[in-house]
Amino acid sequence: MSVRVTLALALSFGMITARSTSAADYIGAERCGHCHEQEYQQWKNSGHALALVRLSKVQQRDATCRACHTMSPPSEDPALAGVQCESCHGPGRFYSPRFVMKDAELAKLLDLKPVAEETCAPCHAKDTPSVRDFSFEEKLTLVRHRAPAESSKKPKG
Ligand code: HEC
Ligand code: HEC
Ligand code: HEC
Ligand code: HEC
Repeated sequence: MSVRVTLALALSFGMITARSTSAADYIGAERCGHCHEQEYQQWKNSGHALALVRLSKVQQRDATCRACHTMSPPSEDPALAGVQCESCHGPGRFYSPRFVMKDAELAKLLDLKPVAEETCAPCHAKDTPSVRDFSFEEKLTLVRHRAPAESSKKPKG
């Protein structure tokens, strides 16, 4: 489908409008995983996926900890717990339909964000309690979903 046609479709669905993000704009990692199995499997066992559930029950309710240990905006939905796909890639409600995903330009218009140093910065800040320094280049290699040689493989769809 051409960008023009998909854009017209998106507009007619009311997808592109001025709006602020709410919990309803996030679909959760499991649903991304229906199409991105490899990325999902790699993420599922990562510290990011477990970031909330590893905290004590009291800490899990503490807004200070939740600011970095789960997705914002706040949600009680366990399907949205931890640092998720959408914490890095942007809220997926509008870009996750297949016809949007296949059109990189349209997906970008509909909230799919490039992952850059600013993506990590709100949580991996200078004053984040950590024994390790955060070097973007180095840490990026630890969150990649696949080895560089494989990165040309297309997801199913
Ligand atoms: C219905 C299936 C489907 C779902 C659900 C889906 N995707 Fe995709 N996604 C695709 C397809 C297909 C492509 C690849 C487009 C291509 O390479 O032709 C893609 C591409 C991507 C890309 C690469 C974009 C680029 O320009 O390199 C990212 C990142 C991505 N998806 C993230 C997500 C995230 C995060 C979610 C959940 C919020 C998600 N996707 C949900 C099918 C899906
Ligand atoms: C500014 C963002 C931020 C806030 C606020 C924050 N954390 Fe973290 N936390 C992180 C990051 C980032 C890491 C990973 C740091 C690293 O290992 O380099 C982390 C790591 C941790 C770890 C270690 C996890 C492990 O297995 O290595 C614990 C435990 C933890 N945080 C508890 C808390 C608690 C409890 C609170 C609330 C009082 C809190 N954090 C608030 C960002 C934050
Ligand atoms: C900590 C941030 C982070 C999280 C969390 C994250 N990703 Fe990614 N993702 C990236 C980065 C960085 C890249 C680009 C990799 C590169 O530069 O080689 C990427 C690339 C992708 C791509 C493009 C193809 C590929 O594998 O390189 C897809 C699809 C994708 N992510 C889907 C997902 C899904 C689905 C989830 C959740 C299950 C997820 N991501 C969670 C950072 C993240
Ligand atoms: C929403 C907040 C958030 C975002 C965004 C985020 N992280 Fe994290 N990250 C965390 C927390 C919290 C932990 C600790 C999780 C645990 O182990 O319990 C962590 C842990 C990690 C770890 C494992 C500990 C370590 O330092 O070796 C790496 C690597 C990492 N993050 C890299 C990244 C990179 C790279 C990005 C950006 C592309 C990113 N993160 C984005 C919150 C975040």
